Parts: sequence; structure tokens; C-alpha cells
Amino acid sequence: MPSTTEVLVIGGGLIGLATAVELAQQGVEVTVITRKLCEAATQSAAGMLAPQAERLSSGPLLDLCLRSRSLYADWVQTLENLTGLDAQYWPCGILAPLYEADLIDQNSEPQFILDTEHQWLDYSALSKQQLGLSSDVRGGWWFPADAQVDNQALAKVLSAAAQHLGVTILEGVNVNTIKHQGNRICQISTPTSHWQAEVYILAMGAWSGDLLPIPIQPCKGQMLSVHAITPSHGEQPLQHVLFGTEVYLVPRRNGRILIGATNENVGFQSHNTPLGIQALLAAAIRLFPQIQHMILEKFWSGFRPTTPDQEPILGTSPYENLFLATGHHRNGILLAPITGKIMANLILSGTSDPLLDCFNCQRFGYDWHASF
Ligand code: GLY
Repeated sequence: MPSTTEVLVIGGGLIGLATAVELAQQGVEVTVITRKLCEAATQSAAGMLAPQAERLSSGPLLDLCLRSRSLYADWVQTLENLTGLDAQYWPCGILAPLYEADLIDQNSEPQFILDTEHQWLDYSALSKQQLGLSSDVRGGWWFPADAQVDNQALAKVLSAAAQHLGVTILEGVNVNTIKHQGNRICQISTPTSHWQAEVYILAMGAWSGDLLPIPIQPCKGQMLSVHAITPSHGEQPLQHVLFGTEVYLVPRRNGRILIGATNENVGFQSHNTPLGIQALLAAAIRLFPQIQHMILEKFWSGFRPTTPDQEPILGTSPYENLFLATGHHRNGILLAPITGKIMANLILSGTSDPLLDCFNCQRFGYDWHASF
């Protein structure tokens, strides 16, 4: 006999969990089936909430990202109140320093967002904002509304919140088949079980294409971390995220600094390479020279789920009871709150957020019925 649930979420990264929590808060019975959580992009990210520092062009993706960023503080607070855990949300702002060679772009820079929330700082102002920057820096953008969260801590908070709300989470399980009858999904199977649900949500990140003909490729990002605190240097010297042209540095309050990330189209090859780590370290040391003396902690990598236009796939599918929430590329941590909320609204009340039309999978024009 297949097991049953009202909503089955396939994928237990931040996007799947955020959607599960929203649905469970409305009294829905939700089960999340997920492969190993340690492999999710959620775990390997740096947690920047950076629609402005990422220089997203104006359009639906920027609108979605700005909306999600505006939800973040309250969303995290609600989850923390539910669980008593801390996701380490830190509205620290992001500095984007530029070198001489980057300055030619400066005049055209404000086209990425016309608002009052960012400011150009010359070198003198920038180095007052953040001590210890490279003397090669000529100035930079200050994005005070961009922020960060500890993505690993947030994953724990979301998972605990989901379980507190009655969500069942089955980890370490690969869904290997999905069956349909006409225009409805009727069952999914794992190597050891079968599941039936009224609604299915696919949130498998970089692995989404394993199950359905969804155009998603992994974009590998290598990262490393250093630790700034030594007996002679007792506090975190970096008080803002630094978003450079070839590297970003994300400080944590406990003294860690995360350094990321490469962008590589090499499939699911997860190993760190000397070239990738050398490039990140060289760029990080150039930008913030005291990095060279810090304690080297560890290296890792992850896979951004990337669509051909690098924008997410959200909303309905050709199957009336299958919904898609995947392909968040560089913005999965940032987009978790808005994704959870608009997916839950769509599923529960049929209310489609106006932005959802822009992110429907049909924009890629695949004939699912021919290939599935
Ligand atoms: N959001 C930063 C990255 O994907 O590297």
C-alpha cells in the first residue's frame, strides 16, 4: 500500500522547507522527502541577501528578490519564536568595493536599481565604513539594505519549525520515479516506498532534471572559510559583507569569514580544485589583506540550480497537481521566504501572484507530454 499525505514536497533544501512550513501553518498535512540534506545548495551557500550587490537588472527577478528581502527579518523572527533557535540574521549591509580597472563601469552602475538605498563612497568614506580594505580600492557601492543570514543555522531553524508544525521529513531518500495518469501525478516512488498525495511540489534544486524534463544544470561554486579570531585579535574585523568583482567575503559574528565562490559548469564534480581555491584566496587577500594571516578552516563546494535564463521556475506545471519551485541559481537563500509564501497561496487558494507568470516553466517551451 502506498503511504499518503495531503502535500508531498520533493526536496528538503531551504525552498522545500520554506514552502512546507507555510503550508503547515495553514493546517495542511505535509511530508517532505529529500535526498541527503548535506548535499543541498542550502548547506554550501554563504547566506548573502544581496539583490542589490548582485546587480540584478531591473525586472521581475529583481522585484521578487527585493520583496523577499523585505520579508526576511519578520520571517526569521517568526521561525525563531516557533523554535527557540537562532538563524543569525544580520542586517550588516554590503559593500561592493571597486578597483581602478572596474571604475569605467561606475557611471552606468545606477541603472541596476534606481532607489535611494544605495550610495557611492569614495575611498576615504569607504575605508571609514570598513577598516582594513586594500589600498588598491578606489571607491565602492554601499548597499545598506542588503543583509545576510547563516544559511546552515537557518536550515536547522526551518527544519525544526516544520517538525514543530507537524511536517514529516524523510531524509536520505531518493525519489526515482514519478507516475502520471492523464494530466495528474498519481504516485512517486523511492527505492523502498510508494507515495500518493493530492498535491506534489518539486523543489529538488540542481537535481530537478533527474525526475522530470526540467532544464536545470548544476553550476558549481567552490568556497572556503577562514577564522579571524586569534588570541591577539579578539573580534570580527569585518563588519559588512564585501562583494568584490571576483570574490565575496561574508563575516559571521563568531569570527568566521566565508569566501566564495567560483562559477563552474562541470556537472556534479564536487571536489575542490587548487585553481579554484587559489583564485578565491588571491582575490580575497587582495581585497582584505589581513585574510592572509587568519586561520584557514575548510573548503567545500555546492551546486547552484541553474536554468537557461538563470531565473527560477515557480508555479504550475503541465500537471494540475504538480507545482514547481526550483532553479533559484544564485538567489535561493534570499528567495526562500517569498517562494514559500507565493507557492502556498497558489496551492491553497489558487491565487497566482502576478510575478509568477514570469517564472512559469512554460517559458522554455518544452513539450512535457512528449518526453515524460
Ligand atoms: N549567491 C552567491 C553565489 O551563488 O555564489
